[in-house]
Amino acid sequence: MRIQGQEHEVPSGQSVLAASLTLGTDSAPEALCGMGSCYACVVTRNGSEQVRACVTQVREGDSYDW
Ligand code: FES
Repeated sequence: MRIQGQEHEVPSGQSVLAASLTLGTDSAPEALCGMGSCYACVVTRNGSEQVRACVTQVREGDSYDW
């Protein structure tokens, strides 16, 4: 998967939020509830789709920006 323009290898099944925190990316998406209720963690997937990072599982080849 690609986070903010950088390619990363992450285990499948992780949320985008968990993956970004595990990777130690400089700025993980903001998160409040961690369970899909508050929408504070909305990120852009593949340049156009808005998804919640805490409840969206990473997929091979996807790109995320925030
Ligand atoms: S942190 Fe609240 S919806 Fe993701």
